[in-house]
Amino acid sequence: MCDPHGNDANTGVNVSQPNGGNFDIVILGAGSGGYAAALRAAELDLSVALIDKAELGGTCLHRGCIPTKALLHAAEIADQTRESEQFGVKADLVGIDMAGVNAYKDGVVSRLYKGLTGLLKQDKITIVAGEGKLVGKDTVEVNGRRYTGRNVILATGSYSRTIPGLEIDGTRVIASEHALKLDRVPSSAIVLGGGVIGVEFASVWKSFGADVTIIEALPRLVAAEDEEISKAVERAFRKRKINFKVGKPFEKVEHTENGVRATIAGGETVEAEVLLVAVGRGPTTANLGYEEQGITIDRGFVITNERLHTGVGNIYAVGDIVPGLQLAHRGFQQGIFVAEEIAGRNPAPIDEAGIPRVTYCDPEVASMGLTEAKAKEKYGADKITSYNYNLGGNGKSQILKTAGFVKLVRLNDGPVLGVHMVGARMGELVGEAQLIYNWEAFPEEVAQLVHAHPTQNEALGEAFLALAGKPLHAHS
Ligand code: NAI
Repeated sequence: MCDPHGNDANTGVNVSQPNGGNFDIVILGAGSGGYAAALRAAELDLSVALIDKAELGGTCLHRGCIPTKALLHAAEIADQTRESEQFGVKADLVGIDMAGVNAYKDGVVSRLYKGLTGLLKQDKITIVAGEGKLVGKDTVEVNGRRYTGRNVILATGSYSRTIPGLEIDGTRVIASEHALKLDRVPSSAIVLGGGVIGVEFASVWKSFGADVTIIEALPRLVAAEDEEISKAVERAFRKRKINFKVGKPFEKVEHTENGVRATIAGGETVEAEVLLVAVGRGPTTANLGYEEQGITIDRGFVITNERLHTGVGNIYAVGDIVPGLQLAHRGFQQGIFVAEEIAGRNPAPIDEAGIPRVTYCDPEVASMGLTEAKAKEKYGADKITSYNYNLGGNGKSQILKTAGFVKLVRLNDGPVLGVHMVGARMGELVGEAQLIYNWEAFPEEVAQLVHAHPTQNEALGEAFLALAGKPLHAHS
């Protein structure tokens, strides 16, 4: 990407100090966590070396959030075309042109990449292209050159994990980065893992016309979500004819003449053209010199205190290598936090439960805070009240013809502990949900606030009206 002897040919990013040097901060990894730290540090007048062996922007921009959501948007257009008759619009879905879909997706990525490199192109930030290794408590070595920092931030991100004995070959047994680059819609696909990546790809491929089967070891899809949300996703997937087998772990995969055959515990088999491995992402921390410098590593993750300090020298860690939610927006926030910490701004620690979560399958899932089960576990069942507002009562959701609900979990006579939503476009409602959660609002306080009509956002307002004891358009 970057020419180490001058400016990047595509972006013109500053690589003017490629021969090592001393900085306020040396950052290893230019993904969401690393580049956010660099930008905030530069704003705070600190000098930064930002090191990456691949493109600036990391997994989220190039192999994760952004390209996947572009595919999901194309999938939504395919479904809307297929279903257009319901709205009185006559259209035929002639087919999916993957070259066209990929050109659209790649165009989005490249525009954002240009924008990001533009942001990073500033005097305070030196971009270093190459593979870095921590060789001292304050030093990262890249291609034999040493970059020394008063502080070091480790931000090396994550990779697609697999399970023992299951080799990802990139053609028949693939990971999400391969799935994003497919030049065709597979006729059929097995998705191993019914977590976030699994349900998003299952959703895309089904919309594009593939026959999809998800295999999930846990008893339900999106098992980290509230149980009622899982049930709603499963109901919707059944309706969409996305097959799923839950509660049984995968055992093995074999090649067939045209694809793969997966065996599930108990002996049942499923055949398909490809198998997507979506069993989680592992932290990228091996062979980077971390342990040699005394950093505590647990199952591959870098252990830090709540201020993201590793306990070694002035070394911090951010993003997917730190145990917790592996989400880009958590990485951004942690990057900002550490830059401010280094600048002596004493930022408030980040509350993991206050981080919003969105899964962009159809129907979309968005959630904040505690599930009902977790809230009951923490506070006792008799201290918790929950309420489900069905989107059947929400005008805009009816216009969109989407089903789903907004579920609230509250502490009796206390604040909102959890917001869980399922249905089309619910991800866009998570912004208000996160303010409500993080400001520890009481339902009675939110119920006073006016929500615009007719919006889906109104469903959130109606749920709070109901929980505050004054339901309006709520059917019980
Ligand atoms: P995940 O942890 O969400 O799901 C993995 C699933 O695989 C689990 O449900 C697990 O029970 C299942 N599994 C593991 N071993 C299995 C086996 N042997 N047989 C059957 N099932 C098995 O991880 P996923 O979906 O790979 O995503 C990785 C990370 O990327 C997540 O932390 C996620 O938060 C992040 N991500 C976030 C997105 C978003 O915010 N929209 C989108 C995509 C990924």
